[in-house]
Amino acid sequence: MVKDRIDSNRSHVLPLELGRPMPVVVRGEGVWVEDAAGRRYLDAMSGGSMAATLGHGRRDLIAAARAQAEILPFVHNERLTNPAQEQLARELVAVAPDGFTRVRFTVSGADANEMAIQLARSYHVERGEPGRWQVISPAQAYHGPTMETLALTGRPGLWGPFGPYLARHLHIPPATWRFDPTGRAALEALDAALEAAGPHTVSAFFCEPISAASLPGYTPPPLFWRGLAERRERHGFLVCFDEIVTGIGRTGHWFAGCVTECTPDIIATAKGLGAGYAAIGAVLVREEIYRAIAGGSRRFTLGHTWDGAPLSCAVGLAVIRVVRDEGLIERVRERGIRLREELAAALEDVPIVRQVLGHGYLLGVQFVDPRDGESFLPRELRVAARIDETAFEEGLITLSTQPTRDGYAGDQTLFAPAFTATDEELEEMVARFSRAVHRVAEQVESELGTSPSPTGGRT
Ligand SMILES: Cc1ncc(COP(=O)(O)O)c(C=O)c1O
Repeated sequence: MVKDRIDSNRSHVLPLELGRPMPVVVRGEGVWVEDAAGRRYLDAMSGGSMAATLGHGRRDLIAAARAQAEILPFVHNERLTNPAQEQLARELVAVAPDGFTRVRFTVSGADANEMAIQLARSYHVERGEPGRWQVISPAQAYHGPTMETLALTGRPGLWGPFGPYLARHLHIPPATWRFDPTGRAALEALDAALEAAGPHTVSAFFCEPISAASLPGYTPPPLFWRGLAERRERHGFLVCFDEIVTGIGRTGHWFAGCVTECTPDIIATAKGLGAGYAAIGAVLVREEIYRAIAGGSRRFTLGHTWDGAPLSCAVGLAVIRVVRDEGLIERVRERGIRLREELAAALEDVPIVRQVLGHGYLLGVQFVDPRDGESFLPRELRVAARIDETAFEEGLITLSTQPTRDGYAGDQTLFAPAFTATDEELEEMVARFSRAVHRVAEQVESELGTSPSPTGGRT
């Protein structure tokens, strides 16, 4: 008999948060998952972390994995290669922005990001500029849980006790409506960081082109992208994109970097490449970066055991086939516009909702203090946690965060359904989410004393 909820005191698993009872999910089909008690939840978060982009229980992906496992599940890529790895690299290059010609596979998003940093540094070293190592990146970001990826953020709240281990990279604030709607202040901060580092020591600028959980749906304004491209030209650093979430269709393009005004030099991607059926990531580089290595030491040898394994690459190939054959890039691009409008309309009358933003199926909702319509909500109100708990009661899986203590963003919710969700399922997700937000908003307004008076005016 499987229990439907696990309490951390009674489990041998060390969970992420010990105080949170964990529902035990036993099966999934499409955008629905079911717990051990038979309760069904609509999954508006693609498996909880934006990875299950094609939904649960896909027989074609399972068949591709099984077929490869039967022939050859694993060989290590240090001395051997395999057809699945070779073919997947060809297919990724075909859908990447122009100029990208080589791919190295990884296991996760964090190690893809770390490899992007290593490749950027290798590029400079191979070309005779060993003094370039520093990385500048937006402070309000999430790039993974490893030491280097934590260091790529400027968020002591996320570093926790690991600050002493982290490289001292330089950070700039995000150009959001609250701090810098035009992107001018972020460019000034970038100039100041370049100056502080000494531009000839800077290896890369590293960012998410469109943010996921750290600032759901946010992308810097056009002025910032143009200014970044111009500074890259002037100072010779590389631009690396964390497309762990945005790669393979999430924003209605194969890569978000295909459409930003500043095209990247290196792209790291992961989640949607395995679609929740395999642990696989990839780092894609421009030909110039490959040439620097090819014309230099001819070695870039670090990697993990499972990098480029036949089993995970076979799943990646099947995922790309599904995304292409089912027209999911176009579907996400077009339906995403309506989904954002539907969310905005459903939340229009909620005073704690400031903005619904995003691209494709990577959407975000930002919450503010209703007393002035712009400040962060008080942390102790736990709005993010309450949204997720209430959504759960409504039978909906969402992901909300509260990075308030880092000072760049307040309570916010990410909305990132699978690309295969039907219109009816998307409508139902919006309806359940709207009910959850309205319920929490009513409680919060009552706690803050801003509930509408019986005569209809606001007190
Ligand atoms: C934008 C972004 N980058 C990197 C990562 C890390 O990926 P992984 O958990 O596969 O290491 C995540 C994970 O959520 C992410 O959202």
